[in-house]
Amino acid sequence: MEQNKTGEKNSLIKVRHLTKYYGKRLAVDNISFDIGKGEIVGLLGPNAAGKSTTMRILTGFMMPTKGDTFIADCNMVSNSLEGRKHIGYMPESVPLYTDMTVRDYLDFFARLRGVPRDRARKRINEVVTLCSLEEYVDTVIGKLSRGYKQRVGLAQAIVHEPEVLILDEPTVGIDPIQVSQTRNLIKELGKEHTILLSTHILPEVTMTCNRVIIIHKGKIVAEDRMENLSAITKGSRRLRVEVKGPTDQIIRRLQRIDGVRKVSKEGNYLMVESPINIDPRGQITETIVKSGWTLLSIDSVEMSLEDIFLQLTTKEENPQ
Ligand SMILES: Nc1ncnc2c1ncn2[C@@H]1O[C@H](COP(=O)(O)OP(=O)(O)OP(=O)(O)O)[C@@H](O)[C@H]1O
Ligand SMILES: [Mg+2]
Repeated sequence: MEQNKTGEKNSLIKVRHLTKYYGKRLAVDNISFDIGKGEIVGLLGPNAAGKSTTMRILTGFMMPTKGDTFIADCNMVSNSLEGRKHIGYMPESVPLYTDMTVRDYLDFFARLRGVPRDRARKRINEVVTLCSLEEYVDTVIGKLSRGYKQRVGLAQAIVHEPEVLILDEPTVGIDPIQVSQTRNLIKELGKEHTILLSTHILPEVTMTCNRVIIIHKGKIVAEDRMENLSAITKGSRRLRVEVKGPTDQIIRRLQRIDGVRKVSKEGNYLMVESPINIDPRGQITETIVKSGWTLLSIDSVEMSLEDIFLQLTTKEENPQ
């Protein structure tokens, strides 16, 4: 039996060996993950990573080539109608009925999803306030700016109080003040909902999510709780070396040291990578001094999340 990585017994979202080809193009390549109740998980990846494709399949709007997805134990491949009742989905481009007012649009979706009329009226006012749409509630959607249309998309996703929210790049096109409000809103919603959101911006996950799944070229390249993410690079150590002497020659010499994986130039420094279980500092010092060069400094460097993301998504093809 597959172990749920989150440690939760009841995953609300389950993805199993999901694969999607568009013609010959492999967009999602055999990915599996679980999201437990109450988690806010970020699906992080660069453009074309397969984020939107995964979400479209997860919400039952598209069939996978292979694999299964479950929301609240409903199989979204074979029984998406049932599963959709549990989901609020904000797609990448939200289809909005441009000649409806915001209120009519939200009312339409509330009723479509079975919210009783009395409750709908109250709930629409709630989501209008939550999404800061008060000023435009009686405006037709076609006359709204892009950012406000985005907010209507979010309001639409939560109007029926679903257990699970799937938000595809929820802050794209929104101004900085609203971005921060939207992030706070997502965190607030996270208290009552299970949320999967996609983004290609790292700060978004850092600020909003408890856990991140990093995907690149259709594959999961890393998955962990935010506070553990730096452990992903536990396998490697980085040293920043400042040395006076002929750079190219120094690089060549350092590369020959046992356990040194890579030496590269960054500004005035040389960055030396090695496996975590090897500390090449002594050897580096000795090599430099013996060669008659001047060692100015040698420091261990913490990798930032940004470094980790870049390392994971720009590493060479087919590394052994
Ligand atoms: N309808 C489609 N037909 C053909 N190929 C598609 C289609 N939708 C997506 N793709 C391809 O599938 C791959 C994954 O696309 P997807 O939209 O899932 O990426 P994404 O991670 O959401 O990217 P972005 O950050 O740009 O939104 C890309 O190579 C894309 O060109
Ligand atoms: Mg996308």
